[in-house]
Amino acid sequence: MCGIVGYIGKKNTKEILLDGLKELEYRGYDSAGIAILEDGNFHNFKAVGKLVNLEEKTKDFTTDKFAVGIGHTRWATHGKPTELNAHPHLGESSYVVHNGIIENYVSLKKALIEDGVRFLSQTDTEVIVHQFEKNLKTMQSAFEAFFQTIKELQGAYAILLVTKSEPDTIFFAKHGSPMILGINSEEEKYFASSDTPLIGHCSDVNYFEDGDYGYVSPNEIVLFDKNNNTKGVQFSKLSTNRLSAQKDGFRFFMEKEIYEQSDVIADTLMGRLGIQNILFEELDKALFEGIDEIKLCACGTSYHSALSASYLFERYAKIKTTVEIASEFRYRSPIMTKDTLFIVISQSGETADTLETLKMAKEAGLKTLVICNVDNSSMVRLADASILTRAGIEKGVASTKAFATQVCVFWMLSLYIAEIKNSLSSEEIAAQITLLREVPGHVKVSDAMHERIKRLSKRYLHGHGFFFIGRDIFYPLALEGALKLKEISYLHAEGYPSGEMKHGPIALADPELFTIALLPQHLLYEKSKSNVEELSARDSTICAISALEFDKADDYIPISACRDYMLEFFEMMVVVQLLSLEISIRLGNDVDMPRNLAKSVTVE
Ligand code: M6R
Repeated sequence: MCGIVGYIGKKNTKEILLDGLKELEYRGYDSAGIAILEDGNFHNFKAVGKLVNLEEKTKDFTTDKFAVGIGHTRWATHGKPTELNAHPHLGESSYVVHNGIIENYVSLKKALIEDGVRFLSQTDTEVIVHQFEKNLKTMQSAFEAFFQTIKELQGAYAILLVTKSEPDTIFFAKHGSPMILGINSEEEKYFASSDTPLIGHCSDVNYFEDGDYGYVSPNEIVLFDKNNNTKGVQFSKLSTNRLSAQKDGFRFFMEKEIYEQSDVIADTLMGRLGIQNILFEELDKALFEGIDEIKLCACGTSYHSALSASYLFERYAKIKTTVEIASEFRYRSPIMTKDTLFIVISQSGETADTLETLKMAKEAGLKTLVICNVDNSSMVRLADASILTRAGIEKGVASTKAFATQVCVFWMLSLYIAEIKNSLSSEEIAAQITLLREVPGHVKVSDAMHERIKRLSKRYLHGHGFFFIGRDIFYPLALEGALKLKEISYLHAEGYPSGEMKHGPIALADPELFTIALLPQHLLYEKSKSNVEELSARDSTICAISALEFDKADDYIPISACRDYMLEFFEMMVVVQLLSLEISIRLGNDVDMPRNLAKSVTVE
């Protein structure tokens, strides 16, 4: 997690760094800081909390001549979100910003303390700058000292370091966390954790590979690879279209993103629906040759969409499918066989745990595919093939439209594989495609529905917990509904398979236990209904989401009459998203930047 920026040039360095950090704030907003080296002197500012606090602190400071600057927005891993723990971290005459985790920081710190170094923060990052300065004392040049330092680090990092001994240079290293270098015709140099801060400033960008390190000055870009060989910088054109999302009158980005789902799903489907087949131009059918099993791997919401996919893949494509939580998969010595297609799913394409499983699969010689929302992300660049979800920039930390588009891609992919495997007839595929075309219409938010959920939300602000329950593919949707509520309302919520409640959780049933019951008319309706009746009989407060009114429910949120369970899935998805949104707003929370979270988790 965390976002880093860097700049070398003659423009207003402070503004450039702050503007860049604004674009990266979704990656962490516990604190932020900048350090600017101008005329041989450092100017350093840090502030706890959101970026506006740093903007306030720096409002009287300007830079109008050549300077070198680095900045950071933090999601705390080691040490509380305090000003002392905020980056950039200072040595005697150098500053560092870092995204990632230095795993061997304890032993490095111990040795440095024995040498008399005084640490100001509790972070793992601070060892980098002290280790660099220790090495600088015995080495010929700052670059040699920097190289020696990164050799001594274990873990994941994207690092920018500036030092008075080389006042026009930024030293950089990337290993496991994203980092990009941008240039333009004005000979400025920019660094950032993603390309959004560079749009509008840079014409060309280079995406660093793991193991890359080097330095950049006004006239030089020196790059080495993980084997310490010099390497040419590979620039590619950067889009000039600043897609940076604005709220457009909505109260929160999350609300806007829920409303956008109809449009972005239409984009996801665009050009991919034939009459009797799915067209994924980006895929080569050879990817599926010799494949007997699919393994899906992801985290959080993307894991829930993967779970949804497993129902669709087995039902339509008749292919054995397993789903794994990435953080578990990577450490459990999994058996990987070459008849398995390994699919990772990620909104950002940068989630450290998921990225690592992709690397493991590649090393094991498996064919790999990524379903991702961000082109040029680390996962897209690494996987053998990729399908982009086309959800557009998602700013709300709680994912909504990314999930919706992921499920659409999976639905299409299940039909694409069904055609290859001959598991559905052309007519059956055509019928599914007709349903897919109807999805954008079913996720439109009606005023009446939103208003009803807004009013109803006031009854769900307390209690000792929520159970979201569903069967079949509505179970992953229940998990997703519970995750949304947890993330932004801070109320305890669990997703559970409806039929499993009687095996334990029903013991919790009482009027203060809120059950959000997903009751699709077209999939196991009677069975799901009996499970809800069991809870209702034990006085749990029930909120039923269904096209059919249910007399045992305390509250009822109607969806429209759909002709297939997948259309009901998408309608209910919107309901659970809006319910979480409205509960969170009533509780006075910051919906887009919930406490303790960040948009992109690039640490393990
Ligand atoms: O970018 P990714 O899809 O890989 O992110 C995975 C999770 O961190 C993410 O889905 C997280 O759970 C969201 N906050 C969910 O709303």
